[in-house]
Amino acid sequence: MRICRVLLVSLLSCICMSAERGQETVTCARCHQKQASTQPGTQMGHAMQVPGDNDTLRAHPELTFRREQYTYTVKTQNGQTQYIVSDGTHSISIPVVWSMGAQAQTWLLDHNGRMYESLVSYYPSIEGLALTVGDDRLEPKTLEEAIGRPLLEEGVTTCFGCHASNAVIGHKLNLTSLKPGLTCEHCHVDAGAHLASIAQGDWTVFPPELKDLSSEDISNFCGQCHRTWELVVRAGWRGTSNVRFQPYRLAISKCFDGADPRISCIACHDPHQKVVRGASFYDSKCLACHSPAMSAAAPHAKVCSVAKVNCASCHMPKVPFPGGHFVFTDHDIRIVKPNEPYPY
Ligand code: HEC
Ligand code: HEC
Ligand code: HEC
Ligand code: HEC
Ligand code: HEC
Ligand code: HEC
Ligand code: HEC
Repeated sequence: MRICRVLLVSLLSCICMSAERGQETVTCARCHQKQASTQPGTQMGHAMQVPGDNDTLRAHPELTFRREQYTYTVKTQNGQTQYIVSDGTHSISIPVVWSMGAQAQTWLLDHNGRMYESLVSYYPSIEGLALTVGDDRLEPKTLEEAIGRPLLEEGVTTCFGCHASNAVIGHKLNLTSLKPGLTCEHCHVDAGAHLASIAQGDWTVFPPELKDLSSEDISNFCGQCHRTWELVVRAGWRGTSNVRFQPYRLAISKCFDGADPRISCIACHDPHQKVVRGASFYDSKCLACHSPAMSAAAPHAKVCSVAKVNCASCHMPKVPFPGGHFVFTDHDIRIVKPNEPYPY
């Protein structure tokens, strides 16, 4: 039976809804205040930004970068941004419409009907521009090539698919229905039907309960965007650049058990809240298995002989991302030995 915590507020709002229907769009926030008050402020909520709503560019109205004969300028004025690449004689200026990334930003640029991923990106750690991750091997020979990496249609579609919502309908990109960042419906796929049925007074249609998925299913769910174990193995992505693929790293840790909810992504992270920084927050998550009190429920999980707090600070090391000006937390939870090679 469904024990309904939000029923009271829902019923109240239902009464209001019937009075207001047609005048105001009913949103998820009406009944799910807890999630709705924080989720839009998370990095996933901001995974893409549009002109006028880009605090990073507003705070850095003129960014420049030089690589060989090419100079890059990213200029923001009155909420509008131009990406300008010049070889000293000629220049190309493209309006920035699609900014991908909540903190570090890469721009998708439409030049003469062709989409490019900008050759330079903004990185908060240097408060400036540098080469886009993975683009250091590009050797542009013309001004056009210096814009960035040309994207195939599929690359553009998947880019929007992970960083925006309602952007891909039936495998096709639809820029008119697009909402920047991850909205509720991106993860709660049937939420639209749920909302519509409630508006009709039908209280039987609910989105699937994600919290009851196994830890393996949750890894695959988050892995749609954070990449799955299977994808990383098949693609053969080895070396420290795979540190950003948490579902893969977690799966290779000895702690991982696909059926144990204590090691699921959502045991440590609430997708509606900003990620909690600082190791101490996660201690209770580790101790749910690694404590004498839990020895019956986790017979193979031993107790640390070295320390009792800040487990993640030693067992989930920070790994610098190659060429990325940022670090990721290694989800391959393990005993880290000095000078050991990066596992897998
Ligand atoms: C008029 C009130 C109302 C509105 C508006 C509403 N919901 Fe719900 N929702 C409910 C109720 C009631 C439940 C059942 C709650 C329960 O079982 O705890 C529910 C259940 C859910 C669940 C499943 C929770 C679980 O049990 O795991 C999700 C996810 C959800 N809603 C998301 C949304 C999203 C996203 C929107 C906006 C598109 C939305 N809801 C709009 C009332 C509402
Ligand atoms: C539809 C794609 C998508 C799905 C599904 C998804 N994420 Fe994300 N997630 C992103 C993107 C894109 C970012 C990067 C946001 C940015 O920095 O621009 C991100 C960032 C994050 C962050 C980093 C936030 C920070 O403050 O650094 C966490 C934590 C996270 N996701 C956890 C999860 C968890 C847990 C799940 C599964 C319950 C999940 N994500 C599912 C796309 C997704
Ligand atoms: C399969 C889903 C997926 C696709 C496709 C994708 N991203 Fe991301 N992106 C993510 C996730 C998840 C993150 C969060 C960081 C992480 O954990 O890797 C992220 C992070 C970022 C960031 C923040 C800095 C960083 O590297 O962490 C930028 C910038 C970015 N993506 C740009 C792009 C651009 C531009 C495209 C398309 C050309 C793209 N992404 C395609 C899922 C995706
Ligand atoms: C990145 C994916 C993601 C996004 C975006 C997202 N959710 Fe969720 N949501 C989840 C997951 C995973 C769960 C199950 C874990 C949990 O309960 O936190 C969940 C659970 C829920 C529940 C059930 C909570 C409970 O305690 O039973 C509700 C209600 C809900 N989400 C509403 C929303 C609303 C409203 C939004 C938009 C403001 C939203 N979600 C955005 C992934 C997401
Ligand atoms: C679901 C229960 C569970 C959770 C949660 C969990 N672990 Fe584990 N962990 C295990 C089990 C079981 C093993 C032993 C597996 C084996 O030896 O085959 C293990 C092994 C380890 C090891 C030894 C690995 C090695 O390289 O030999 C370390 C260190 C460790 N865990 C630390 C942590 C830390 C730190 C956290 C929290 C960030 C954590 N664990 C969360 C169950 C868990
Ligand atoms: C200061 C760094 C540090 C912190 C903090 C720390 N550990 Fe450890 N841990 C180690 C080292 C080093 C070893 C290996 C010890 C050895 O080989 O004798 C270890 C061993 C372990 C083992 C394997 C034990 C065995 O007998 O095989 C587990 C499990 C573990 N730690 C879990 C945890 C948990 C859970 C926490 C938090 C409550 C934690 N650690 C905090 C450094 C740390
Ligand atoms: C046992 C706890 C634990 C589990 C399970 C876990 N994480 Fe994390 N996660 C952490 C810790 C600790 C951090 C770093 C927090 C900090 O910076 O202090 C982190 C950080 C992150 C970040 C931010 C980027 C970074 O590298 O710092 C993302 C994204 C993320 N986790 C995604 C996931 C996903 C997706 C899963 C499931 C596959 C997952 N996590 C499972 C503990 C966990």
